[in-house]
Amino acid sequence: MHDRRTDGLTPWLAWLCALAALSLGPVAAVHAEESATVQRTALITGSNRGIGLEFARQYAAAGWRVIATSRNPSRADELQALSRQYDNLELAKLDVTNVDEIRNLAKLLKDQPIHLLLNNAALLGSRDAQFFGKQDYELAVMQYEVNTLGPMRVIEAFIDNVRAAGPGKIVTLGSAAGSNGYLRPPADFYSYRASKAATHFLMHNLSMDLASEGIVVGLINPGLVDTRGLADIGPDDPVPDDFAQIVKLIRAGVIELTRPEDSVAAMIELIDSLTIENSGDFLNFDGNPMPW
Ligand SMILES: NC(=O)c1ccc[n+]([C@@H]2O[C@H](COP(=O)([O-])OP(=O)(O)OC[C@H]3O[C@@H](n4cnc5c(N)ncnc54)[C@H](OP(=O)(O)O)[C@@H]3O)[C@@H](O)[C@H]2O)c1
Repeated sequence: MHDRRTDGLTPWLAWLCALAALSLGPVAAVHAEESATVQRTALITGSNRGIGLEFARQYAAAGWRVIATSRNPSRADELQALSRQYDNLELAKLDVTNVDEIRNLAKLLKDQPIHLLLNNAALLGSRDAQFFGKQDYELAVMQYEVNTLGPMRVIEAFIDNVRAAGPGKIVTLGSAAGSNGYLRPPADFYSYRASKAATHFLMHNLSMDLASEGIVVGLINPGLVDTRGLADIGPDDPVPDDFAQIVKLIRAGVIELTRPEDSVAAMIELIDSLTIENSGDFLNFDGNPMPW
């Protein structure tokens, strides 16, 4: 039996369905596919050891394309092992004080989106060389070069890549050591502290500059992270001079170090949650605000 009403409706329905299929359906499907397949990219400085290496490991395991930079990739054994394990992790040479190296890498990555530009590299330096009366000024200048100007150089060089990511985020690792609110005796690490305090200031400043573009500038204190295996030093093992004090405090239970994998896992979660509203804030790895 023929039903004239459905006959009359069928072409309309068919047309509507076709329209939906042509416009909404495929577009929605493409978007869903895109968001499922778009691989995010992280560029990490100083990723051959410590916190940077752990960031490289965790972002690679999460499927990101990781551009793991270091001063000497040919001698970065653990990073090389990671690149054999993950196709999505590539090594690149980058000394954050070397303008030519920065420029060359920026040229290589031209027009490629960077979703996370992670300024991790830093120079702590020997504690002995950073007391009042014993300050090594060459070290102080180098710390300013690496810790303070390094992130600025890297950000200026890769800002178009961050913009191209829709935009991406810029995250720099600060330090409680560079916080006035955290300053307690003994007065040590003069120049490291000062270089980090200056970095905090620059990132805060930068966040204001980039806010109108929606670029989030994160500044995170990773906590007291055991990047040198101090918690595992046995009672009869030799203790590096620079860390003798810290090891004493660890053994006395006065301070507790966070494992790199735990600090980095928490920071990745925090980075993911950063929005333009908290851009430029100084945050602890657990998300709590840090005093400047
Ligand atoms: N660990 C902590 O408890 C702690 C606490 C507060 C803040 N932070 C911050 O967290 C970040 C990582 O700390 P970490 O403990 O992992 O440090 P780390 O173990 O001392 O490693 C520092 C990294 O920076 C690299 N680096 C040094 N100078 C460089 C340069 N000119 N160009 C490029 N890379 C350079 C080092 O490379 P080389 O191997 O070639 O020297 C190394 O990969 C730093 O920004 C640090 O200030 C750490």
